[in-house]
Amino acid sequence: MAPLLEVRNLTVAFDTPSGTVHAVNDVSYILEEGETLGIVGESGSGKSVHALSMVGLIATPPGRIVSGQVIFNGRDLLTLSQRELFDLRGKEIGFVFQDPMTSLNPVLTIERQIAEPLRRHFGMSKSQARAQVIELLELVGIPDAARRARQYPHEFSGGMRQRVMIAIGISCNPKLLIADEATTALDVTVQAQILDLVRELKRKIGTTVIWITHDMGVVAGLADTVQVMYGGRIMERGPVRSVFHDPRSAYTWGLLKSLPHGGRRGINRLYQIPGNPPDLTKEPVGDPFAPRNPFATERCKLETPPLVDAADSTPGHRVAAWYDLRAELARMEAQA
Ligand SMILES: Nc1ncnc2c1ncn2[C@@H]1O[C@H](COP(=O)(O)OP(=O)(O)O)[C@@H](O)[C@H]1O
Ligand SMILES: [Mg+2]
Repeated sequence: MAPLLEVRNLTVAFDTPSGTVHAVNDVSYILEEGETLGIVGESGSGKSVHALSMVGLIATPPGRIVSGQVIFNGRDLLTLSQRELFDLRGKEIGFVFQDPMTSLNPVLTIERQIAEPLRRHFGMSKSQARAQVIELLELVGIPDAARRARQYPHEFSGGMRQRVMIAIGISCNPKLLIADEATTALDVTVQAQILDLVRELKRKIGTTVIWITHDMGVVAGLADTVQVMYGGRIMERGPVRSVFHDPRSAYTWGLLKSLPHGGRRGINRLYQIPGNPPDLTKEPVGDPFAPRNPFATERCKLETPPLVDAADSTPGHRVAAWYDLRAELARMEAQA
């Protein structure tokens, strides 16, 4: 069976007064139906731009899709008209964004906002939509749904607003749900509740999910596959267990080292990857992480490594690296 989504060589740039920003560089991957893909990477690594450009949501100009194909359900989204994309968004591909306070309209009731895509895409009547809204609010764990539906966003807590955003995201039963930093603004407890909710929804309705976050910890508990991005490229990708236990990219290794281990005390001892993120206005040459990579070789600075199967690893575990991280770590261990 064909995959639900196949991204081929997606390259996206922004033409700005200070030069061309190479935001997404030659990104290719496959997403199977039912899969949960976690995309991680530091701020500015191209996670949001890659997702937004797939569905025609980057401003052009300054944005420009330089090349690529995005085959979703058999169609190349990059060839669709604005009208076709408008019909697709919210219906076949649902979204949940970071900040529900700015994404929700403060002057409209929750009911109006959840009903809007239902009425637009399915032509539901007001009362049909109302019944559906209440069902959706119950599904995302909002108690007293009939009464709550008539309230306004400011009457909801941050966590409850994020649940409303998820209700909107899944309202039309999309084939794919893309969540971008959907729990970033929430405190840890509420974040955990939202992640529980997403796991439960996956079980109930089985949507395919792309979950974008800068937080490796979030991906660990949610995703089947993790995809690590840096400098607009995929550095490593594979089954969560394999990538977390046996990373092959020095960047992934750095991200994992910066995770707090056990309890609050760990937070004080957070490891930070030394150095600065790449200057994306420079023509991308070589491995973007090379300047910060203690294991980088001459070749890393000159030639961009392709994303290939990691040697002796789980099927689907892929890495873009000229150096051999396993050998380097073993050497380090032997010296310690
Ligand atoms: N409208 C824009 N104009 C210029 N540069 C942009 C614009 N939007 C994003 N970028 C740049 O594209 C790069 C990737 O951004 P983004 O995808 O938002 O990163 P992430 O989501 O991983 O934090 C960043 O360097 C960002 O500054
Ligand atoms: Mg982002």
